[in-house]
Parts: sequence; structure tokens; C-alpha cells
Amino acid sequence: MRKKHTVTTIQKRKGEEPLVMITAYDALFAKLFEEGADILLVGDSLNMSFAGKKDTVSATLEQMIYHTNAVCAGAKESFVICDMPFGTYSDKHSALQNAMEVYRKSDADAVKIEGGADKADIVAHLVRNGIAVCGHIGLLPQSVRGEGGYKVKGKTQEERLQLLKDAKAIEEAGAFCMVVEGVKTEVAKEIAQSVAIPVIGIGAGNAVDGQVLVFSDMLGLFEEFTPKFVKKYLNGAEAIREAVKAYANEVKERSFPSKEHTY
Ligand code: KIV
Repeated sequence: MRKKHTVTTIQKRKGEEPLVMITAYDALFAKLFEEGADILLVGDSLNMSFAGKKDTVSATLEQMIYHTNAVCAGAKESFVICDMPFGTYSDKHSALQNAMEVYRKSDADAVKIEGGADKADIVAHLVRNGIAVCGHIGLLPQSVRGEGGYKVKGKTQEERLQLLKDAKAIEEAGAFCMVVEGVKTEVAKEIAQSVAIPVIGIGAGNAVDGQVLVFSDMLGLFEEFTPKFVKKYLNGAEAIREAVKAYANEVKERSFPSKEHTY
């Protein structure tokens, strides 16, 4: 089994073998992902695929801590990042209190914060106080209601320059890596080349330092909608429906349990 990552070993992967990040929300899946992934992200996307809500905005700190604990219990050798949910880092003071709450109540190795230059002072404050921070720029799911939808970024010169500014600000604030979501490939490449910390993309092409996917998307379990950047590595929903159907049929025809599964 490989050694658990630290912020240092993650940073050393800049420009080397791409980092593999995947979301995890519980111990069962976290254990299954541990071997293949460098980093497990307890993303607030759990509010959609786990809790069935329409977006990530209503996720709570309590919820994130609960799921982070489950993931850490299932994957003890994984570097685990806990997403700070919407409204828990709107100023330096509350951000630090809430990030410390995550550290106190779970074994999370780092937290993730959405936002660019506008959040740089908050990232810097957390880092100064001993919190490892993963940035998140580009398409920010927590801004979906404010922006009226999920919008790909980097399409105009103005957006490109803003993204480059955001990336630099987050790096200078002390983040050890950053997620870049929903950004045109060429701009994401430029971002990755402009900073010395690993840039992990989602919907941002392959010229970055790693990739992250939401597990329920890449395993084909989440069927509400499928963004263009999602590749399904398994038709999980279909496989599960088939398995439940087979179980139901066997129960009804009394072929389960057979002798093999009976005391
Ligand atoms: O919440 C999440 O799963 C995320 C990923 C989309 C990066 O932030």
C-alpha cells in the first residue's frame, strides 16, 4: 500500500504524474477509492447526490463534518479534504472558527474554499493559523443561485485575465493546491503554467496537474443530469437496478435463500 500523502508530497507532483482526486461521502466507498486515488474530497456535492437537494448551497458544516468522519474512518491512509459549505467562510473570523471546527471534530487533512482574489485574505488567514487550504476557482457551484446557473468560465478575455488573477492570489495566499472547475482548456492550461502549486481540473481539460470527478457521476450512479465533462466509467445505476430486480425475483419465487445461504 502506498504512503499517505501530505501537503508536501502533493505539491511535489506539480508538473509530474497527474494527481487523482475523487469525491467520497462515506466509509464504504472511501475504502474502495483509497487504492486508486491520491486525494479524497468530501465535496459539498454530497448535498445533491447523497442528500437529494437541487444544489450544494444548503449543505451545512455539521453535514460536512459527519461525512468527513465517515470518509476518514473508511480510508485511513488517504489525504482527505473537507469542502467548506456555503456561508461558512464569508469573513476571516467565521472562516477560521468553522475550519477549526472541521479540524477539531474530524481527521480532515485540509479544507477547500470556493473563490479567487476576493477570498485571498480568508485563505491567507486560515493558512497563517495552521489550516491547509485547497482553493477552488472558475465555475463555483456555491454561486449557482447568484449566477443563475452553471456557467463555463474563461470564454472572454476579461474572464481569462480574472482567472489568472484569481489563481495567483490564491497561490500567494498560501493554498497548497487548487481546483479549477468549468474552464476552457487553453485558459486552464495557462493557469496551471502560471502557478507553482498543483492545479486539479474538473471540466478544465487535461493540461493541468490532476483531475477530480464526483464519484456518483463517474460511476454512473447520479442520473439527474450529466455535465459534458463527466465520463462514466461504470453504468452503476443500471447495474444496481438489475441486482435489486434479480434479488426481488428470487425472493418472490422463494429461490433465495437457497441451502447455501441458510443455517
Ligand atoms: O463538491 C464537490 O464535489 C466539488 C468538486 C466538484 C470539485 O467541489
